[in-house]
Amino acid sequence: MIVAANFKTNLTRKETLVYLEKLEQNIKNSNQDVYVFPATSSLVEHSGHAVVGAQNAYYVQDGAFTGEIGLVHLKEFGIDTILIGHSERRHILGESQEEVSKKFKFFKEKNFKIIYCIGEPLEIREEGEEKLLKYIESQFAGIDLDYKNLILAYEPVWAIGTGKTPTLDDIESLHKKLKQKTSAPILYGGSVKVNNVEDILKLESVDGVLVGSASLKVDDFSKMVEIAQRIED
Ligand code: PGA
Repeated sequence: MIVAANFKTNLTRKETLVYLEKLEQNIKNSNQDVYVFPATSSLVEHSGHAVVGAQNAYYVQDGAFTGEIGLVHLKEFGIDTILIGHSERRHILGESQEEVSKKFKFFKEKNFKIIYCIGEPLEIREEGEEKLLKYIESQFAGIDLDYKNLILAYEPVWAIGTGKTPTLDDIESLHKKLKQKTSAPILYGGSVKVNNVEDILKLESVDGVLVGSASLKVDDFSKMVEIAQRIED
């Protein structure tokens, strides 16, 4: 299974290095796929079981794009994994589907492993399933769902950082629909914690989890990797 940590705007470089060292000790016997996405200034060259990826980058090699980093900055650290379409980038930082799809196309051409995030705001979910599916469909515009290095992450916006999650049945039912569209692994994200990860990972159509706040403590995140391992054994 896939267990991924999104640090968002947390943990300095120093803290990230300490975290990674501890994580590697904790997961050395695991054969789960583990990803860690540190803040941009905490990106590090890392060799170990866990793969370090970028939370974001601009779709250029380099150039005049103040405040952004490009491909060369990721390559410096040997990074070839990226999160694209996270709801905070869409809804807080204003990334449009067009921008998101340009990013996808660029990093796909560079052969990156892409964790592509989708998910609906609460008002859409409240409008019923048809609207929800239509909304999700709009987040596939310009996205190649057959891309071989794709991992999809379903993260309802209203579940991120709120402690709320959809019911297990709702997660399973949506993932099942997504499975009809792609053969990529599908992660669930949004308030995944040590105490709910097992139930979520046991769902048939869930191939892993993308964890935000509960990943910030290395022992909690390691525990989730351990739970994934136990389920698979
Ligand atoms: P959360 O964030 O676990 O803090 O809800 C998940 C995410 O945004 O990937």
